[in-house]
Amino acid sequence: MSLQQQITTEFQQRFNQLPTFVVRAPGRVNLIGEHTDYNEGFVLPMTINRSMWIALRPRDDQKVIISSLDFPDFADFSLDEIIHGESWDEYVRGMAWVLQTEGYHLQGWEGILASDIPVGAGLSSSAALELSVARAFWAISRWDWNPTKMALAAQRTENEWLGLKSGIMDQMISSNGKEDHVLLIDCRDLTSQLIPLPEGVSVVVLDTASRRSLIDSAYNERVTQCKLASDFFGVVALRDIPLAILETRSVGLDALIRRRARHVVTENNRTLQAAEAMQAGDAIKLGQLMNASHLSLRDDYEVSSEELNTMVEIADSQPGCFGARMTGAGFGGCAVALVQNSSAPSFADEVAVAYQEQTGFQPYVYICHPTNGAELVEG
Ligand code: GLA
Repeated sequence: MSLQQQITTEFQQRFNQLPTFVVRAPGRVNLIGEHTDYNEGFVLPMTINRSMWIALRPRDDQKVIISSLDFPDFADFSLDEIIHGESWDEYVRGMAWVLQTEGYHLQGWEGILASDIPVGAGLSSSAALELSVARAFWAISRWDWNPTKMALAAQRTENEWLGLKSGIMDQMISSNGKEDHVLLIDCRDLTSQLIPLPEGVSVVVLDTASRRSLIDSAYNERVTQCKLASDFFGVVALRDIPLAILETRSVGLDALIRRRARHVVTENNRTLQAAEAMQAGDAIKLGQLMNASHLSLRDDYEVSSEELNTMVEIADSQPGCFGARMTGAGFGGCAVALVQNSSAPSFADEVAVAYQEQTGFQPYVYICHPTNGAELVEG
């Protein structure tokens, strides 16, 4: 049974009627352009066919009551006075708070939520939760849905309600994604361009099954280091630094900060080249850029991990693999590989066996297809 069917059945049993609306928002995998979004640079993510689903019906009052098929605790709060919660409902409360402060009309609702995006794997389950909640409120009130504005509202939830300094990539792709396409996003002006995935290639997500707990502080530290570098060069963001300037005018810049900056500057270049390669259907070039991105994240940005490096090495050594790299914030979570279609199933099996042999962790492997961004599915 699909997740959509499961929440619909569960809804029917609990409320004795069919849901008025069913909405969904997808997770994402980033093909290239890592740790560039908060430097106002370029990213090239795609949605995956794993989503957060919500089945709901409006209430006559201002209460929001949601149960989850995945977690025992409920979200139960009033839109009249939104206060902090204690678990996953923080994302729901935060999103409602932001939408309200931005002047959107919100009405109460109740429903059921379920997801097949693994939590903490770097596949943006939080952005999917935020965007599906926004779609749920929208389904009732029908304001003018602008995917980029909704992504910004979701990012405010992360930044202002949850206190995380995350960039805009995850929310942009979860709201603006399109079936069979990847999205080149300019994180300075938030313009974006849909590019079809080249024919004959599969995107395979390789979850190392390892998680790091210090990720938030390490992420925030990288954000601060990039700011130090852009201040050194007197620019608004590292996006504005050409590689030649970094190479010739960084006397006096701390060596560690210089390496961080080098990752961002070279990654921006790689991302633009990757978009071109993708448009030309050049999977070989794309794969090479992904490999180079991994090395830069491993050596200059230092956000990879032993498990991620092992996974990438194993993936790269398989027949039919064009390239592989860690994806998302890093320190654990997932790698992504670009693989020839016909090799994808055997690639998935071989990598899983080899990785488990070498690390003792049982990995999860997903062959992914890009789906639409946050949308109303029923109602
Ligand atoms: C996390 C953040 C994104 C982005 C990536 C790294 O997923 O939420 O904004 O910075 O890390 O590219």
